[in-house]
Amino acid sequence: MSNLRPALRFVRPYLAQVAMAGAALVVTASVTLSVGQGVRLLIDEGFTTGSPDVLLSSIGVFVALVLLLAAGTFVRFYYVSWVGERVSADIRLAVYARLVRMHPAFFEENQPTEIQSRITTDTTLLQTVIGSSVSIALRNAFMFVGGLLLLFVTNPRLATIVIVSAPIVISPIVLFGRRVRRLSRSSQDTLADVGSHAGESLRHIKIVQAFSHERLDLAAFADRVDVAFAVAVRRIRQRAWLVATVMVLTLAAIAVMLWVGGQDVIAGRTSAGELAAFIFYAFIVGAASEVWAELQRAAGATERLMELLHANSALPEPARPRQPRRPGAVAFRGVSFRYPTRPDVAVLTDIELSLRPGETVALVGPSGAGKSTLLDLVQRFYDPTEGTVSVAGVDARDLALETLRREIAFVPQHPVLFAGTVRDNVRYGDADADDARVTAALRAAHAMEFVDALAEGPDTIVGEDGQGLSGGQRQRLAIARALLPDPRILLMDEATSALDARSEQAIRQTIADLKGRCTILIVAHRLSTVAHADRIVVLADGRIVAEGTHETLLRENGLYRDFAEIQLVDHAGEVAAGG
Ligand SMILES: Nc1ncnc2c1ncn2[C@@H]1O[C@H](COP(=O)(O)OP(=O)(O)O)[C@@H](O)[C@H]1O
Ligand SMILES: [Mg+2]
Repeated sequence: MSNLRPALRFVRPYLAQVAMAGAALVVTASVTLSVGQGVRLLIDEGFTTGSPDVLLSSIGVFVALVLLLAAGTFVRFYYVSWVGERVSADIRLAVYARLVRMHPAFFEENQPTEIQSRITTDTTLLQTVIGSSVSIALRNAFMFVGGLLLLFVTNPRLATIVIVSAPIVISPIVLFGRRVRRLSRSSQDTLADVGSHAGESLRHIKIVQAFSHERLDLAAFADRVDVAFAVAVRRIRQRAWLVATVMVLTLAAIAVMLWVGGQDVIAGRTSAGELAAFIFYAFIVGAASEVWAELQRAAGATERLMELLHANSALPEPARPRQPRRPGAVAFRGVSFRYPTRPDVAVLTDIELSLRPGETVALVGPSGAGKSTLLDLVQRFYDPTEGTVSVAGVDARDLALETLRREIAFVPQHPVLFAGTVRDNVRYGDADADDARVTAALRAAHAMEFVDALAEGPDTIVGEDGQGLSGGQRQRLAIARALLPDPRILLMDEATSALDARSEQAIRQTIADLKGRCTILIVAHRLSTVAHADRIVVLADGRIVAEGTHETLLRENGLYRDFAEIQLVDHAGEVAAGG
C-alpha cells in the first residue's frame, strides 16, 4: 500500500468532504450491521413467536433501517465520488505542472504521447478506485470491526472461529494482491503504449496514407492491443483466483461456524437468529477481498504517475537567482556539449563567441554542424557539458528561467502554430498584449498585408498545421509572435526551404528594421540574410572555424566560399539591390 501513500497527500485538502463521507459511512455501516440484528429479530421473534404483530413491527423497523441506509449511502456515495474526482483532477494538474517545466531532454527519453496517456488513463483508474472501491473498503473494514465486536458480545465461541480463520482467508488476499499490483502496472504500461501508437499515427495521418501504411500500422497497432489484452487477462486471472480462493475459504469458515453454531442452536445455547446474523457478518468480511484487489490495482497504476510527479528537471532553478547585468549580451565561454541521449557524440566543442548588445551575428555551416543546438543552449534547453553560456552578462544557470527566457525571443526553423486565430497565435508571445500591440507586431513582421487579406483578418482561425498559410506566411507569424514582447535578444533559425518571394523579402526587411534595436543571432541559409550581419560565424562539426564579414570570409575562408556558392541559396542580385 506504500504506493498509495503519495496519493493520500492529495486527499488532505479535502478533509471536510472526507469527514462527511466518513460520517455517512459510520451510519450506513451501523445500519448494515443492525440489518444483521434485524434478521435475528425477524427469525427469533417474528417467525418463532408466531405473532403477526411482532412480524409487522419487525418489518417496520427493517424498512426504517433501509431508508436510513439509503440516505446514508447517498451522502457517502456523493462525497466519496466527489473526493475521487477532485483528487484525480488535482493529480492530473500536479503531474502536468511538473511536466510542463521539465527539461526538454526528458521528453526525448519519455514519449510525450505515452505521458499523455498516463495523465488520462492512470488518473481515471485512480479516480474509480478512490471514488468507489475505497468507500466500499472503508465500509467493509468498519463493518468488519463492528461485526467482530457484535460477534464477541453475542457469541464468543463463534467469534473465536472468525478470529482464527481470518489469517487463513487474508493470506491469499495479500499474496494475490501483490501480483495484481505488479500486473496492473504492466497493464497500464501496455495501455499507454497502445495510446501512444494511435496518437502518433493519427497525428501524421497524411504520411501514413501517402505511403499506404494503413495496413502495416493497423497490424502494429493490433499487436500492441493484443499485448495489452494478454497482460489484462493475466491480471484478471490473478483476481479470479483471488476471488475464488477467498470465496472457498470464507465458505469453509462459514461451514465450520454452521457446524459449531448449529450444535449450539440444537443444544439451545444459541438462537437460530443469532446464527443467521452471524453468517451475515461473515459474508461481509469475505466481500472485503475484492476491494483489496482493487486497491492493489490502483497502487500499481499510481506508480508511474508518482514517478512522473517526482521526476526532477535536469535544469534546476538557481537557489538565489541573479538579475540581468548587461541586457542583450550573449557569450559562450569554452562551451562543449553532448546530448544526454547521445553522450558519445561531441556536438559542440570549445565554442568561444560573444555578442555585444545590438549586434547582428549570422551563423552559417553545413547541416548537422550544431547551429540549432547553439540556439538551444542560449535558451537553456540544455546546460553545456563544459564551459558557460551567459546571457545578459550572467551565467544562464544563475538566472531564473523565466527571467532568462523573457530576455530572449525565438523563431524556430519550422514555425509552430496552435489551434486558434492569428491573433491568438501572435499573442502567445505575450498574453498581456492588447490588440494594438498585436497589430504593431504583425506590421513589424511585415505580416499585416497578408493577414488583412485573410477572410477575417487577424481573427481568422488557423489550425495547428497552419492550414491555408504558406511556409513563409507561417514564418512571418512566428516572427510577429517573437517580436511582441519586445525582446532584447532575437534568436532565429532560418527556414532552409525556399520561401515565396514576397515572404522572403518581408523577412529580410524585418531583420533590416530590427538591426541595432536588439541582439540578433540568426542561423542563415541565404546570402540575403548574411548580408545584414555585422559578423558571420562559420560552424563546422561543432567548432567555430572562421569569423568575419562576408567580404573577408569570401577572401580568406575556403569553406565559406564553398557555402556562398553551394550551400547558401543564392540571391546575389537582391543583395546587390541592398535588400
Ligand atoms: N535532441 C537530440 N538528441 C541527440 N542528438 C541530437 C539532437 N538534436 C540534434 N542532435 C545531433 O546534434 C548534431 C547537431 O545538430 P543541429 O544542432 O540540429 O545541427 P544544425 O542545426 O547545424 O543542422 C547533429 O549530429 C544531430 O544529429
Ligand atoms: Mg538546424
